[in-house]
Amino acid sequence: MNYTLESIDAKNYEGNLVYLYGDEVAGRSLPLSRKEMDAVKARRDKERDFVMVFDRLPYHLYFVSFDSERKATECQERLRCAACKVVKMLTADADADVAVSGGGTLAEEVATFVEGLTLADYSFDRYITRQRHHVLNVTVDSMYLKADELEASERLWNRIFWCREWVNLPVQDLTAPMFADELASIAADLDGVSCTVMDRKQIESLRMGGLLAVNRGSVDEPRFVVLEYDGVRKQGRGRAKKTQANKPICLVGKGVMFDTGGLNIKPGDYMSEMKSDMAGAATMASVLFAAADNHLPVHLVALLPMTDNRPGGNAYAPDDIVTMYDGTTVEVVNTDAEGRLILADAIAYAAKNYDPELIITAATLTGAAVRAISTFGIAAMEQNAADAMTMLRLVGDQVYERLVQFPMWSEYDEMIKSDYADLRNSTMSPQAGTITAGKFLAHFADKTPFIHLDIAGVAYFTKAQQYYNTGASGYGIRLLYAFLQMHDMMNVE
Ligand code: BES
Ligand code: ZN
Ligand code: ZN
Repeated sequence: MNYTLESIDAKNYEGNLVYLYGDEVAGRSLPLSRKEMDAVKARRDKERDFVMVFDRLPYHLYFVSFDSERKATECQERLRCAACKVVKMLTADADADVAVSGGGTLAEEVATFVEGLTLADYSFDRYITRQRHHVLNVTVDSMYLKADELEASERLWNRIFWCREWVNLPVQDLTAPMFADELASIAADLDGVSCTVMDRKQIESLRMGGLLAVNRGSVDEPRFVVLEYDGVRKQGRGRAKKTQANKPICLVGKGVMFDTGGLNIKPGDYMSEMKSDMAGAATMASVLFAAADNHLPVHLVALLPMTDNRPGGNAYAPDDIVTMYDGTTVEVVNTDAEGRLILADAIAYAAKNYDPELIITAATLTGAAVRAISTFGIAAMEQNAADAMTMLRLVGDQVYERLVQFPMWSEYDEMIKSDYADLRNSTMSPQAGTITAGKFLAHFADKTPFIHLDIAGVAYFTKAQQYYNTGASGYGIRLLYAFLQMHDMMNVE
């Protein structure tokens, strides 16, 4: 999608036009005839949020009415959903161009509508031979939106697009070595981003027992990718206190390229769509790239353990005891609880080698997270990071990538104790599966402030939802990006 910021004459516009209408600003001249205006008024007497379509053949006018008196976040979410409706109509038969006229609406309202257009227009087309239709060019007409703001958003949306592509790619076309190469080649072209790709030999010499165990059943090698972007040093405009320490935020992402469950093989339908089990890694790489694209003054390190989980001849087995990177021993109770094994090594590696201000994980970690809150948000936990979690929740509400905080009470620790090792990778009970997974990870963060995001419910939708087509959503990128922007403003230590 191409975006141009340009003022237009909405009344005489020759092309598809969206007109955003939030409230009745006195004297505003609308691109409507008297009869059309009456129809809008009659509808607005009954409800505030609707899309009305008027013929301007061969074009259409999409009149998007919304209630600007609602809470900003709700109002914006409704605008994203309205944008989705418009996209479906615009692209029903052919590719389309459209202009979005903000009238007197706020910069954020116009920007969120365009965000909705962008997110809704995405579909995974790579293997479709008869191409689907898309919105090609968007002209944005807003009194308040600034060109550099729109351009920064474009770059963020582009990263979301790529995240969704990666997550949608089947493992046949995106193995751990392929994904690592792809990230390295992007990093090579990006100013200020460095990338280290570790292969099996290097992972062996690091003694990452968790990642190696999960990889044992696979024919493809594992990878451990470390991306770094230091926007504080680069910009030289970090606050004094922060510049001195310049501790990074470490972003750890689960990169299970496909999760068969391993020897505890997933039954029935549970295996389908497990190509999306690397969404955490894709999310974290995308956040780091977006921060670099837009020169955010933050110091980030993304740590991405990658492998698939398969029941090969040499696959790790239940009862195996694995020694992890930090020396912790773990009894494997269930080979399908593989995510926490590869993440734990990466978390311990981050804590030991980077002295991070904060570690955040993103992982499609537990089916229990989906059962707890369905597909409408992230299950989140923290250890020693209460303030950062509060901020994350706040920005989550703002960008409508929401999270629910789960408790980390010490009583849960009992559930992951083992008789034969320091920990076990799964519990014996069907209870609190999301929390016990979070607890397992938190062990490896030790004293480092730690936030865990279980994105199992939101990373990949099996049915189209809101403005997302079926498949990968990129959910979490906007959240973490907004968190990093806010983090800079607040100078949270
Ligand atoms: N990748 C799955 C979790 C998952 C399930 C993600 C559904 C997205 C949708 C994870 O590796 C897994 O299999 N977890 C098990 C853990 C159990 C064996 C303790 C689960 O949730 O059943
Ligand atoms: Zn699994
Ligand atoms: Zn998994």
